Amino acid sequence: MKKIRRVGILTAGGDCPGLNAAIRAVGKAAFGRHGIEVVGIRDGFLGLIENRFLHLDKLNLAGILTVGGTILGTSRIKPHRMEISGRVRDMRDRIVENYHRNKLDAVVCIGGGGTAKNALRLVEKGLNIINLPKTIDNDVAMTDTSFGFDTALGIATEAIDRLHSTAHSHHRIVVAEIMGHRAGWLALAAGIASGADVILIPEIPYDVTKVAQAIRQRSRRGTNFSIVAVAEGAISREEAARFKAARERKERAVTRAGVLKSKAELAELDHQHAGSTLRLARRLEELTGLESRVTILGYVQRGGTPSAEDRLLATRLGTACADFINEQHFGVMLAARGEGVQPVPLEDVAGKRKEVPPNHSWVESARAVGTCFGD
Ligand code: F6P
Repeated sequence: MKKIRRVGILTAGGDCPGLNAAIRAVGKAAFGRHGIEVVGIRDGFLGLIENRFLHLDKLNLAGILTVGGTILGTSRIKPHRMEISGRVRDMRDRIVENYHRNKLDAVVCIGGGGTAKNALRLVEKGLNIINLPKTIDNDVAMTDTSFGFDTALGIATEAIDRLHSTAHSHHRIVVAEIMGHRAGWLALAAGIASGADVILIPEIPYDVTKVAQAIRQRSRRGTNFSIVAVAEGAISREEAARFKAARERKERAVTRAGVLKSKAELAELDHQHAGSTLRLARRLEELTGLESRVTILGYVQRGGTPSAEDRLLATRLGTACADFINEQHFGVMLAARGEGVQPVPLEDVAGKRKEVPPNHSWVESARAVGTCFGD
């Protein structure tokens, strides 16, 4: 077997704390332990298409462990469906061409669920690919956790702690919106850690009257403020029914036109969901008579220096990645499993999402301390 000499590394999808720690770990272990040269690919898969590379060595990998974001840049483009001058084109053959032209023997793709799908599309084109899981959403399938989550959890928890004291002083409802469109891990964990009174997540559709009832009950007991931790993708029962029906129509669609129509319908439902946290706060104000305020934590959750836990996880996965590259073990995502790192075939990860099981032990613990989920 030909020895692996030169490896590319890219970061794709939304950025998160810990990406630089992972780049550093792969790079240092690859050339330090195995003598493999590592080159950075700029802006995710876009850099592979446009042939934009960055030389990486001991010098420029030094001092990035604690730095947020990604020194390589990132993008959300899909190599098989890239829009160029208004036309959608499949750029995978261009990637294969650039891979060989730049004498790459493998590419490390650091990203979430979408990146795993794109990585698999390149495996299918015959490239050596290895994937590392990152996301603040903690929704990558088949891994215990992903780097980025712990840092975001710390930020969201601290933010809600601060909202607590002001909600208390003004006798208000404060609705804190936390990232997580399709999975509620971050809102759930931050809500529990900060003692939110209500936690709303996409996996448990809520009834606003039940939320209001829980808040009124607190008022009757003399506590006339409440903290609602809501995931950006949390949906009411009515919305959930509309999404379910649209998804079923998509599954039943037999013609291409039918599939496109139901995809457009789902996109429209997503569009209508925008601003739902503001509407929820207004409705709670009407139903409880308590003044309500909204705080959208937004991109603050994705920025800044990674926590010690995320630095550790990124370093564990990144150094293990260098060993897997050296052993020529490709087409896998490296999953964090307990104290170890395990390879999982990309086919088992791509297109899957780890959602919060409604009876998960975290949900049960939150219920046990009196948290309302609006169900
Ligand atoms: O996947 C991470 C995430 O931060 C989600 O929680 C959020 O919904 C999304 O990215 C925002 O994406 P963008 O950076 O494209 O606005």
